[in-house]
Amino acid sequence: MQDKEKYFITTAIPYASKKPHIGNTYEIILTDAIVRFKKMQNFDVCFCTGVDEHGQKIEELAEKEGINPKEYAKKVSDIIKNIWDKMNCCYDIFIRTTDDHHVKAVQNIFKKLQDKGDIYKDSYEGWYCTPCESFWTNSQLVDGNCPECKREVKKTKETAYFLKVGKYQEKLLKHMEDNKDFLIPNFYTDEIINNFLKPGLLDFCITRNTFKWGIPIESDPEFVIYVWLDALINYITALKYDTEKQGEEFKKFWPADLQIVGKDILRFHATIWPIILMMLDIPLPKHILVHQWLLYKDGKMSKSSGNVVYADDLADVFSVDTVRFYVLKSMSLDHDGSISYENLISVYNTDLANTIGNLTKRVCDMICKYFDGSIDNSNLSNENKLEKLGLETKEEYLNLMEKYELSEAISKILKFARECNKYIDETTPWVIAKDETKKEELKEILFNLIESIRFIAIMLKPIIPQTAEEILKQIGAKEQNFDSLKKFNESKKEIKIEKPTVIFERIDPEKKLKEIEESLNKK
Ligand code: MSP
Repeated sequence: MQDKEKYFITTAIPYASKKPHIGNTYEIILTDAIVRFKKMQNFDVCFCTGVDEHGQKIEELAEKEGINPKEYAKKVSDIIKNIWDKMNCCYDIFIRTTDDHHVKAVQNIFKKLQDKGDIYKDSYEGWYCTPCESFWTNSQLVDGNCPECKREVKKTKETAYFLKVGKYQEKLLKHMEDNKDFLIPNFYTDEIINNFLKPGLLDFCITRNTFKWGIPIESDPEFVIYVWLDALINYITALKYDTEKQGEEFKKFWPADLQIVGKDILRFHATIWPIILMMLDIPLPKHILVHQWLLYKDGKMSKSSGNVVYADDLADVFSVDTVRFYVLKSMSLDHDGSISYENLISVYNTDLANTIGNLTKRVCDMICKYFDGSIDNSNLSNENKLEKLGLETKEEYLNLMEKYELSEAISKILKFARECNKYIDETTPWVIAKDETKKEELKEILFNLIESIRFIAIMLKPIIPQTAEEILKQIGAKEQNFDSLKKFNESKKEIKIEKPTVIFERIDPEKKLKEIEESLNKK
């Protein structure tokens, strides 16, 4: 048997500062959908995620609660992991930056780069933004504030360690010019080249001595390692990389095939991260996929202003698959998406209940009623509208999924499902059923429909895995992989339907909004 091709994929690791909102959770759902797709294409996938547990913010929050930062971070990490699990995300590795192995490897990397001259100690004067944990020069400030979050900055003078990124900038520039698809969507590659690499990178401050909650430098324990350096290194320590000894996992899975990050943290991933790898003589990831933001009613989510939505709350009121479907459909690679309860109810009723749920129920009911639940594909005619559409949809879907355009792939599936509903209205099987001489015609119509539903459910597997399984079980589908999406009569098929159940019950918007309100008030 041929060895499966490996595929290593990572998410950013969220801060263990507070419970992640649905925007943070979108990233893990997106990654999970890509992972499930790659597995269906027979890749040997390793899916890595985790939490970023160090930093000043966490130290401060812990102090407010009167517990130590380690305990605080553990508490939030558990919440994060529970949400990932609840959303049915099938990660293989969950790394915490407080894991012993990670801490030791970060210290060893620091020492190795210092010995090599890529890290040096110097004194520094600049402006510090506490929420972003970033230093800025005078010229980088915007109206005297942090260029990233626009908040106030504090003048700071301190001694610190620096990463000599300038030394590697030409090499990185060449890499990006030769690999315009390094960043996906590709326009980001030009953006990084023009806005950061061509103007020149400043050496990067990688230590702090104003707080304690971080990985200490062994030779100079007054300093802790800056949270971003510590966090980026997770991608290799998760595979048991260390400077002296590299784990089997690292040898097998590195370089990453895809690293997924939000647009706000692209700068770190497109400049500092590849340079750290160059310093360590490690190959760069093949691609970094940059996603947009999920907004609440078009505004940025923030807990302090009360406009924040959590995936687990929504999953309780709707279902896990409804939330997965909604976020994946709403977010596209080139624009932000938005979430509101009204919109979620409308997408649920239109796409899930009316288009997919209703199609499945109608067809299964008719097969039970007219054929006792059992139907085959003998005597199918050659001309078949649904078959043609199904095969076209499959090709478009595979192409879009390969390009990580999941929202567009979902639109293609929905379009096909709407065509199937139209086909029922046009062929009127309930009229044909009245004529005994048209039994074969009726069988053909219903077979075309049930086979189309099988296509739809298989394509939906990465997006809404539980529901897709349920549909495939209900229609008694034996073949459940992309390879089985062929001409309807390519092989002999007999389908036995289980007693149909309603997969997505239509909801009353007003009642649901009330239920959401009550459920959130209880929290
Ligand atoms: N800890 C850093 C990442 C270190 S990776 C080596 C961090 N954490 S975060 O919790 O702020 O963000 C985690 C991920 O969620 C990031 O990829 C970020 O871009 C993403 N998102 C934050 N808000 C988001 C939305 N509103 N919508 C979609 N993604 C969002 O940054």
